[in-house]
Amino acid sequence: MGNITFTMIKPEAVAANNIGGILSMIEKGGFRILAMKKVQLTSERAAEFYSVHKERPFYDELVQYMSGGPIIAAILEKDNAVADFRTLIGATNPAEAAEGTIRKRYATSLSENAIHGSDSDDNAKIEADFHFSSQEIF
Ligand code: CMP
Repeated sequence: MGNITFTMIKPEAVAANNIGGILSMIEKGGFRILAMKKVQLTSERAAEFYSVHKERPFYDELVQYMSGGPIIAAILEKDNAVADFRTLIGATNPAEAAEGTIRKRYATSLSENAIHGSDSDDNAKIEADFHFSSQEIF
């Protein structure tokens, strides 16, 4: 496995039938999908995944939202994966996302922003391990 990042297509983007459009932008952006699954997180699993945000005022809302419907979880490979993927997805707040980014095209609000991208190589590994076993990565 080379340089990786971890992503989730979030519940509202899955519900809006935007899986294919988002995956197309990811592949056209030069990322290779090493692992992928559709899964619904329990509120306990969502709380654990986002535990770094535990003290934030939006934590409960975030956990409820991320466990409210199925997501697509994936591990992506590319040179400079973490930084290049954050460029491709755009700013957290879609109102500030650049033209041509996934969030500009598909995110509906700051809280429902279509897609997740790891913020460091260390977190990419932790997040990939949280969702996938070694037998699910190719
Ligand atoms: P992401 O950066 O992928 O991970 C943390 C998530 O928390 C973020 O996407 C948004 O979905 C959500 N988030 C961040 N800031 C806010 C906020 N101010 N209010 C509500 N949700 C937020």
